[in-house]
Amino acid sequence: MHHLKITNLSSAYGKNVVLTDVSLTVDKGQVISLVGPSGSGKSTLLRVLVGLTPPTGGTVEIQGELINYNSKSSIKLSRDRMAIVFQQYNLFQNMDVMGNVTIAPIKIKKRDRKEVEAEAEDLLERVGLADKLTAYPDQLSGGQQQRVAIARALALQPDLLLLDEVTSALDPELVTEVLDTIRRLASDGMTMIIVSHEMGFVREISDQVVMMDEGRIIERGLPAEIFDKPTTDRAREFFGKILRH
Ligand SMILES: Nc1ncnc2c1ncn2[C@@H]1O[C@H](COP(=O)(O)OP(=O)(O)OP(=O)(O)O)[C@@H](O)[C@H]1O
Ligand SMILES: [Mg+2]
Repeated sequence: MHHLKITNLSSAYGKNVVLTDVSLTVDKGQVISLVGPSGSGKSTLLRVLVGLTPPTGGTVEIQGELINYNSKSSIKLSRDRMAIVFQQYNLFQNMDVMGNVTIAPIKIKKRDRKEVEAEAEDLLERVGLADKLTAYPDQLSGGQQQRVAIARALALQPDLLLLDEVTSALDPELVTEVLDTIRRLASDGMTMIIVSHEMGFVREISDQVVMMDEGRIIERGLPAEIFDKPTTDRAREFFGKILRH
């Protein structure tokens, strides 16, 4: 059984169709990267998975369970299984790091505070912020804040982590520390779908690279296949452009 199975997924904003027949499987422990030009539907795909944007067709199964995006309880189930981190990390400014990481498990999942805090300490250690538990977001660099956002997502104990351009808003010297955190998660066996423009990183970390264009998957394969031997003109043009600078 696949960890995640997406079949013929479609979505639209009004009349504007932005995802068409997207089919993709992700196995446990795999890292899949989505690449493609701006507006090709990468973020929309992730948003549909977690129930932020409704699909217009197709199915999503997580560990064999079908998610019904018309049902609030089923969407809640998908959010129990998947956590998403955005480019804009949106931490609560009035809460310290520990508060930011533990609030959802304590308030929404009604879990035991002590247990959640102990886990949060481990998570913050994993993202390299063990010494920042009591810091407030405005006392942290962008890279540190983004790592808090990743720890906050992990505190929900997701089976699948979705990362949407988590390094794009960061100064170049802060990118490395966030990429190192993601590398570590991958080597710990976290299943992830990553949207990133850091092509060197994508190449190194991905089990599979999926290229999207105009709401469709146009190529998929091992990083070396996609980057070195793209079969479509569109992919050749895209990689030609982005790998040059
Ligand atoms: N909230 C929205 N309302 C209407 N149209 C939207 C909305 N969000 C995205 N779109 C449209 O959906 C299409 C896909 O957008 P999406 O954000 O998924 O692209 P993307 O591949 O993530 O692009 P980028 O690399 O720039 O982040 C685009 O044509 C975009 O204009
Ligand atoms: Mg996007």
